[in-house]
Amino acid sequence: MAKLTDLYDLGNTIDTFAPGHYARVYEAVDRRDSSLCAFKVMRAEHVVGDGQPRMEAMAFINEADLLVRMAISPSVVRLLDCGYLSSREEIPHAGEIESYGLNIDLFRQGAFRYAGRGWRPYLALELLPRTESLLYVMKPSSPGTRWRLPTEEGIDLAFQFGAVLREAHQQKIVYLDHKLEHVYWDGKRLKIIDWNSSRLIENSPTVLAQQIGADVNHLCVGVLYPVFTGLSPKKGSLMPQPADQAGVDSRYNDINQLDFGLEPTLSPAVQELLSRGARRQINTVDEFLNGLSRAAADFGWNTYFTDGTLRVARDQMRQGLEKLREGQDSIKAAREMLREAAILEGISDNLEAELRRLLNKINDMLNARAIP
Ligand SMILES: Nc1ncnc2c1ncn2[C@@H]1O[C@H](COP(=O)(O)OP(=O)(O)O)[C@@H](O)[C@H]1O
Ligand SMILES: [Mg+2]
Repeated sequence: MAKLTDLYDLGNTIDTFAPGHYARVYEAVDRRDSSLCAFKVMRAEHVVGDGQPRMEAMAFINEADLLVRMAISPSVVRLLDCGYLSSREEIPHAGEIESYGLNIDLFRQGAFRYAGRGWRPYLALELLPRTESLLYVMKPSSPGTRWRLPTEEGIDLAFQFGAVLREAHQQKIVYLDHKLEHVYWDGKRLKIIDWNSSRLIENSPTVLAQQIGADVNHLCVGVLYPVFTGLSPKKGSLMPQPADQAGVDSRYNDINQLDFGLEPTLSPAVQELLSRGARRQINTVDEFLNGLSRAAADFGWNTYFTDGTLRVARDQMRQGLEKLREGQDSIKAAREMLREAAILEGISDNLEAELRRLLNKINDMLNARAIP
């Protein structure tokens, strides 16, 4: 049996922004090749003395299984390794580890044996930057502020999400756990994390069809509405959502209607599409993608009958947005440098005051930024 420290060196927790019900998540170094990963380990409170793996432990096996099945999709977070570890420490730094790589059968077979020993399941995952978490970037920094993705990016994200769900549904998998803290977006590329509440529904076509409908509904309500409006579908501002199984199933039950009153500039076709999704009038991803294609054509997407000028304008839009993202990143980097300078011991009062004046101005600028 290997020692944990032979394989992994665990660093800071990276889940503090949106803690989950099942896991703690740490940044870690894989010592075998010095690469970084996100190390997701079952919370110690779910280890029980009777030797039976709890639902929370089985959820890790379910997640590993679904991640392997969905690995052909570029928008699903990569699974790198899975297994069990003996440590019950808050941040595991010692003890033993059983690492199965991507062998899900062995991981599953270990469930009872390791529950009996009080060990915890873990997954090593591709590490995604916090600055790409949509909840992290879209959450208002002060009351009254709100950001939405530009329509071009929202449409792009919606097409990529639709492609993931279409692949999942073909494999009889439903995602279900749609919320901003599970969605990473860098302006071009979508990544979806946390598949432990997702389900493979092999033996009931009726349940599968019904859950596919729920998946489309959750996409519209739980991800696309906030992405296109900066608002929570549950009224009030964006915040982390309940994470246990009951929370996943019922989270958007009472939302049949979406309010676009604060975002009247959003294209009526997109509003209509999301509203139909919220009313559960879209039963399949293909229906959803059809509606999206129509809405997208008006923004220069080559999905229906789009004329040349629209396409040129869209091209300019994309290049402009890329520059805008670079610009905002530079402003944030500048803020970081000035902040570090401002806390240096021994600088003069005048220099510190000047740094603080600039930092205030930069904060005002970022609070008024054009995109999240
Ligand atoms: N691969 C990852 N890269 C970066 N951060 C991650 C990753 N996976 C999870 N996290 C962070 O940890 C939090 C909890 O992870 P999650 O998979 O949602 O756990 P749970 O199953 O307990 O809900 C996420 O909201 C996110 O902030
Ligand atoms: Mg989660």
